[in-house]
Amino acid sequence: MKILVLNGPNLNMLGSREPDKYGTQTLADIENFVRNEAQKLQVEVDFYQSNIEGELVNKIQEAKGNYDGIVMNPAAYTHTSVAIRDAILAVRIPSVEIHLSNIHTREDFRKISLTAPACVGQITGFGADSYKLGLIAIVDYLSK
Ligand code: DQA
Repeated sequence: MKILVLNGPNLNMLGSREPDKYGTQTLADIENFVRNEAQKLQVEVDFYQSNIEGELVNKIQEAKGNYDGIVMNPAAYTHTSVAIRDAILAVRIPSVEIHLSNIHTREDFRKISLTAPACVGQITGFGADSYKLGLIAIVDYLSK
């Protein structure tokens, strides 16, 4: 089983970016943590991060036929991107949306996710563990 872990804008700045909200782990730390979990689950994972909406759309399109599932943190594009939502719907790859912070306890504009309705479900608010939980959730979903 092959899973793509997609990361949206500003997540390349994790570690130094608003640590009170997003923790002190870098994206590389999170990647190592998820790779370790993937080994336990005996699945393959690839990571991709971009600050550019169209590059994320391209990556989702290229995932068709190459990945069984997607775990994605669309970051700020969660709240704005019809294009990412449509890409997930177009490729029909089961996806789980994840967030480090609990988007439902923050500003009103963050409470709305345009991308989550295209996903199997959403995991939000568990810090770096959201990535691990997202991986477990998609592997479990795909194994049924
Ligand atoms: C985030 C939440 C988003 O609202 C924000 O724009 C991010 C990170 C999270 O993981 O908590 O960049 O997706």
